[in-house]
Amino acid sequence: MKQRGTAIRWIGLAFILSWMVWVAIALLQPTNAQGYTYRSIHSPDGIGKFYMGREIAKVMGHQEALWLERPERLTREQPQEAIAALQLSPTDVIADVGAGTGYFSFRMAAQVPQGQVLAVDIQPEMIDILNFLIADQQVTNVQPILGSETDPHLPPESIDLALMVDAYHEFAYPQEIMTHIVDALKPGGRVALLEYRQENPLIPIKGLHKMSQRQVRREMAAVGLEWLETLDMLPQQHVILFQKPPLAGQG
Ligand SMILES: C[S@@+](CC[C@H](N)C(=O)[O-])C[C@H]1O[C@@H](n2cnc3c(N)ncnc32)[C@H](O)[C@@H]1O
Repeated sequence: MKQRGTAIRWIGLAFILSWMVWVAIALLQPTNAQGYTYRSIHSPDGIGKFYMGREIAKVMGHQEALWLERPERLTREQPQEAIAALQLSPTDVIADVGAGTGYFSFRMAAQVPQGQVLAVDIQPEMIDILNFLIADQQVTNVQPILGSETDPHLPPESIDLALMVDAYHEFAYPQEIMTHIVDALKPGGRVALLEYRQENPLIPIKGLHKMSQRQVRREMAAVGLEWLETLDMLPQQHVILFQKPPLAGQG
């Protein structure tokens, strides 16, 4: 009986020690000024880099470009309904950041005939596809921009809206990109994120490719954006809207 009690005490001690080691390792993760941490043990779908507790997903390669044009997106993502919810004005200048093949860029361009869509992507191959489609469809108000991982290369105070569809979760430097986007917005300009709803485990999308409303709001607040509203009328995605604070006396 005495031996059994001693064994239980040793097991308890070993458990507490291993827990303390685990906590120490977690606390000693290298964290840089932007609050990024790095872990060598992580999801196979992620890059091992964490921002505000979220692991950043791997970038979807240009080899998968055709997947972005799959017909079932029309029913699953309802792009026209999503764009209608953005209440665009015909003169709006919009940045579609992480535009891919321009699935949303071209649809929005038709809604802003006197405005422009700046279609930003970091993959030159996506820019080639955008340029091909612009020429093929004779579209005059979509402007492709090759961004970098840290900078979307948008002119300051030039855009009314920045849209990110299924893209933000794979930005390797989310804080730097969002800081540039805030600089590029006109005062009172808006940011819209479309992300698969993490809160619903039944949505058949990899975990790192979904985002919760709570996480998105925390990350946007970190760059000074004000939450406007969250629209959940799409079958599987949040539409989360933010605003750059207007100038004093404006709107
Ligand atoms: C899953 S695709 C979505 C494309 C498009 N928004 C759509 O809904 O069809 C994500 C895109 O974001 C781009 N991307 C990843 N990181 C980026 C960054 N830091 N800046 C701009 N684009 C980025 C990728 O190259 C990829 O084309």
